[in-house]
Formats: sequence, structure tokens, C-alpha cells
Amino acid sequence: MTAAPITSICCIGAGYVGGPTMAVIADQCPDVRVTVVDINQTRIDAWNDDDLSKLPVYEPGLDAVVGRARGRNLFFSTAVDEAIAAADMVFISVNTPTKTKGLGAGQASDLRWVEACARQVAKSATGHTIVVEKSTLPVRTAEAVKAILFASEQSGDGVQRSFAMLSNPEFLAEGTAIPDLELPDRVLIGGENPEAIDALASLYGRWVPQERILRTNLWSSELSKLTANAFLAQRISSINSVGALCEVTGADVREVAKAIGTDSRIGPKFLQAGPGFGGSCFQKDILNLVYLCRHFGLPDVADYWESVVHLNSWQQHRIARTVVQKLFGTVTGKRLAVLGFAFKADTNDTREAPAIRIAKDLLEEGAQLAIHDPKVNADQIARDLQLPASTEPDVESGPKGAALSGEGTWWPSENIASALKGADAVIILTEWNHYRELDWTALAPLMRQPAWVFDARSVVTPADVQSAGLRLWRVGEGQP
Ligand code: UDX
Ligand code: UDX
Repeated sequence: MTAAPITSICCIGAGYVGGPTMAVIADQCPDVRVTVVDINQTRIDAWNDDDLSKLPVYEPGLDAVVGRARGRNLFFSTAVDEAIAAADMVFISVNTPTKTKGLGAGQASDLRWVEACARQVAKSATGHTIVVEKSTLPVRTAEAVKAILFASEQSGDGVQRSFAMLSNPEFLAEGTAIPDLELPDRVLIGGENPEAIDALASLYGRWVPQERILRTNLWSSELSKLTANAFLAQRISSINSVGALCEVTGADVREVAKAIGTDSRIGPKFLQAGPGFGGSCFQKDILNLVYLCRHFGLPDVADYWESVVHLNSWQQHRIARTVVQKLFGTVTGKRLAVLGFAFKADTNDTREAPAIRIAKDLLEEGAQLAIHDPKVNADQIARDLQLPASTEPDVESGPKGAALSGEGTWWPSENIASALKGADAVIILTEWNHYRELDWTALAPLMRQPAWVFDARSVVTPADVQSAGLRLWRVGEGQP
């Protein structure tokens, strides 16, 4: 028996994953009605904004995809129940942050929104509905969702409903979401019901070659997503640990990365030393894995993965410490320009951004930070630093207010030259392309000498910085 074609999809959660994923599905399947729902009215309004530069998620190419499909077969709405009732397939793509309290606090994922969504689907669905986990979840979450859904099949409210459950984790990376979705390395579908798997596979099959659509059982699918993120994060902690060793031994981490990356068994990707990984997934997913390992009586396995997160925090603190040490052991009252606040280039997302921890450490030391990022707005930075922005102090008349008493302050800087004015150092924390092309000869005279460039992302051309008379520290670069 062939699977009935899907004609109407609903996705709960219009975030960094749900929004772009559904936009691409709608773009590729113009005959399928795709409705993305969210409880956050402001977010939905932004997805519906006529001005495509105001979409709530910044992703290169997303505006064009939304521009083509929105209003045709792609809709954004807060009418969650109606969208569920009309759908033959419901994706759950809500956030699953690390729990902050209770059992598993600091490690386990908070599944309250996933559970709430499952209950809402159980209540509002009609007919046969395929429910797809898109959110990254701990292994065996599908069990709980299934229990909630199947209980409602027999609820006796007179509505005929039945469910099939699939896991379809999303592997897109922010900043490259559109090409990742349009040309995925693989699509993973986990489930027990062959017809439901076929229905989802044939949807992806419109643009993804069949051999890239992998089918597994539910638990393998859930665990594969956690494992993929853990492996990727582990590579970053590994290269960052080697970078620290390079700095003290006179080696250069870029050369080491190239030398090992040419081994086809290792491969060249994800070997870029930096200020540590950020983003909504890596830390959360590893901590989740750690929690699962402890729960299932595997404490040594848990410790192994936990060390990846530990090394990552160490790297972030180490960078702040290096800045303080190089600036004669103190940054109190000193102006420092921070270039980049997003957790990586080409996104406006700051979740777990290394810039947060590094900036907080420097503020703690009493620094005055001019923060520049092409896509992150000042309100977001204030929330992340838990400190409101100050007004930019006048370089000539010196610090005022809190800064006078040695407290750290920050202000948003829209322009790189004004961020650098009177600064003792520039700290590059996100690899925005624009930062690769800075004219150091023009910028250097604006700074207070002796001035430093701390390049935590290896974006500058060292000769340009040095010939402008600036001192340079690059992550993972030892002095031979
Ligand atoms: C992603 C993944 O889906 C998740 O698995 C991963 O763990 C974190 O990253 P993402 O899209 O990046 O989630 O999260 P976010 O941008 O926070 O979007 C989630 C959306 O779900 C928010 O807009 C939120 O308002 C919405 N939501 C949350 C609901 O609509 N209903 C809820 O009950 C809870
Ligand atoms: C990641 C996974 O790549 C993706 O498959 C999954 O679906 C979600 O989590 P994302 O967090 O969006 O995606 O971005 P990613 O490109 O993986 O970068 C994560 C962090 O690692 C960033 O802070 C980035 O700057 C850092 N990174 C990445 C490095 O420091 N060095 C590298 O070589 C690669």
C-alpha cells in the first residue's frame, strides 16, 4: 500500500529551525500547504512583515525563499489549534533548553514545551496525523509523546483520530540554513510505521536524492542527532586544546589543522580554532548526552563527553584572561572594542555565544566595551550581558558614572571606527567577512598606543595589522 500524499503541514515553533525548514519545504512543494504556528505573536508578525529584511531570523537566502512562497502555500500564524486540525503532518520544532532547576538541572533538557505541544496536537488533531519530532530531544522522548497521542485516540470525545510518530532531526547549521536544507548531506527519518516514513520520505524526495534519505528506528534517529552534535563539538574542543599547546610551543594551529585535515580519515572541516563553540545546540545536546549516560549507569562515558563542554568554557575564559594579561594585567577603565557578538557569522543568533562569557569576564574586570555586530541588536546584547547599555563616553573627557568607579560598562557601536576610537585593544569574536577586510593602516591611529588586536577567529592578515604598528595575538599562534 502506498502512503497517501501529504497536502497540509503544520509546524509548531517559528524559530531558527522551524522557520527556515518550513520555508524551504513550501518552496520545494508548492502544492503542499505549510502553516508555521507559534505562541509568540511578535515573532509571527515579523515573519509576516512585508519588508523581508525584518524577518525574525537572519539567514542568507531566506528572504528570497520566503518571498517566493509566503501567501502562496506558506503561512505564519498564531492560530495553533486550527492549523493542527487541518494538517495531515505536524512538525514539533519548539525549543528544548537545558533545565535550570529540578531533576537534571544544568544537564537534562526541559521538555515542558514538547509535552505541551504533544497535548495540544492530541486535543486538536482530526483524522490521521503524522507527528514529526523536529526538535532535538533526549533519546526515548518519542515514547512520551506517543503515549500522550495514543491516549487521545481513545479519548471518547467523538472525534476520529489516529497518529503515527516519526523522528526527523534537523541538521542545518545557522548561517548556511538554506543551502543545508536545499542540499542536505542526508535526511534522517526514524520511525516504526512504514507508511508514515514513506509519506515523509516522498515529501523530501521532491528535491533530495533517495539515497540521501536514511531510515532508522526512532531511538537511533534521536540518538544520531545528539551524537552528530557531540562529535562536531568534540572536534572544536580538540582543536582549541591543541591551539593552546601551539601558543606555548611555537607551533601554529592553522598549520597543524591543515596538516591533520589532509588525512582523509580526519577531513578538513570543523578544525577552526576559535573562542569556543556557541549556538543553541552543542552545549545543550552534550549535556543531554551526559545526563543520559549517568542515568543509564555509564559515568565514565558521561565524564568523557562532559570534558568537551568543560574545555569549551575554559577556552572562553582563557581568551578574556589573555586580553587582561597582555594589557599589563589590568583592563579597569580601559576602552576595548569587541567586534562580533553573534555565535558565528551570518546569523543574528547569540545563544551561548562565546562573546557573552568573554565580555562578561572583561566587564567584571572593569573594562569599557564598545560592542559592534552587523546583525545583533543592542537590546539582545543587554539581555545577554544582563547589563543595560551605557551611553558612549567621550574619549577626551574620560569615563563617567559607573565607569569612574571602575565598574565595567558597554555600549553598542554601529561603526567600527568609532568602536576603535581611543581603544587599547580590538577583540574579534565573530568571523564576519567584513572584519577580514578592515583597513588597519587607517584604523590604527584612532587607537591608544600601544594597541593590540586579539584575533580569536583568525580573520585578519597578520602582516597588515603588524605593519600598521599594532600588536597582534592570534588564537593558536605560538611565537617560533
Ligand atoms: C531549535 C531546535 O528545534 C531545538 O531542537 C533545539 O534544541 C534548539 O534549537 P530553534 O528553532 O532554534 O530550536 O528555537 P527557537 O528559535 O527558540 O524557536 C522555538 C519557537 O517555538 C519559539 O518561537 C517559541 O515561541 C515557539 N514555541 C515554544 C511555541 O510556539 N510553543 C511552545 O509551546 C513553545
Ligand atoms: C550545529 C550543527 O552544525 C548542526 O548540524 C546542528 O543542526 C545544529 O548545531 P550551528 O550551531 O548552527 O549548527 O553552527 P555550527 O556551524 O555547527 O557552529 C557551532 C559553533 O562552533 C559556532 O560557535 C562556530 O563558530 C563554532 N565552530 C565551528 C568553531 O569554533 N570551529 C569550527 O571549525 C566550526
